[in-house]
Amino acid sequence: MAIKIFRDYERLSQEAADEIISLVKHKPRAVLCLATGDTPRLAYEILVEKANAEKVDFSAVTFIALDEWVGIPPDNAGSCFFFLHNNIFKPLGIQAEQTHLFDALSNDLPSECAKMDFVIHKKGGIDLILVGVGMNGHVGFNEPGVAAALKTHVAELDATTQLVGQKYFNQSTALKLGITLGLDHFMQSRKALMLASGKKKAEVMRLALEGPVTTAVPASIIRKHPDGTVMLDEDAASLLKA
Ligand code: PGA
Repeated sequence: MAIKIFRDYERLSQEAADEIISLVKHKPRAVLCLATGDTPRLAYEILVEKANAEKVDFSAVTFIALDEWVGIPPDNAGSCFFFLHNNIFKPLGIQAEQTHLFDALSNDLPSECAKMDFVIHKKGGIDLILVGVGMNGHVGFNEPGVAAALKTHVAELDATTQLVGQKYFNQSTALKLGITLGLDHFMQSRKALMLASGKKKAEVMRLALEGPVTTAVPASIIRKHPDGTVMLDEDAASLLKA
């Protein structure tokens, strides 16, 4: 695992965008799993700008969802579906058949999970997974204590996730369950980028990077990833010893 520390959020975002673009240039049929959330927002803005300016061809790229709030419809601005469409797919002209997202309204969630596992397998695995880190150390909706061997599954959201998740919604929203790729997918992805920005993430990143590798802090598992890079701005790195 490598740790890269950037002076600020802008530089971190620039680098994350560049990583995605250079992969797609090198492998036009890449399979990408890009997290939603506040952390990667600017990286995607830069990605879209650069990709369009440089006419990078995304037409053969496959996009896999990392997670979704169960029960939240796709037209809700807080859904991962809405985020991906508005911040990445629409501005890059990505076609529906290139995207594999969760149906959070499905009454057969186990089959949603199985479908996603099948797609990932059929596509030959994920080339690049980009994730943020929750205030409780979660990755996707792999909540503290999750079994590391899990693939796509439905997770009970812990109290922190239920509370912090409110920031994505226009009104108070019940968030009980999430559907998510598993840590096994994260570890099997050929390249993993983990982004964290701001002082509020400093403590959880200290735990993830300097505490034990444990699913009690799911983000810590990146330390065992053969091609994992943690990208932090100086604020998020401010409690690291080394
Ligand atoms: P954030 O969320 O990027 O909005 O901080 C990160 C996460 O919960 O994974």
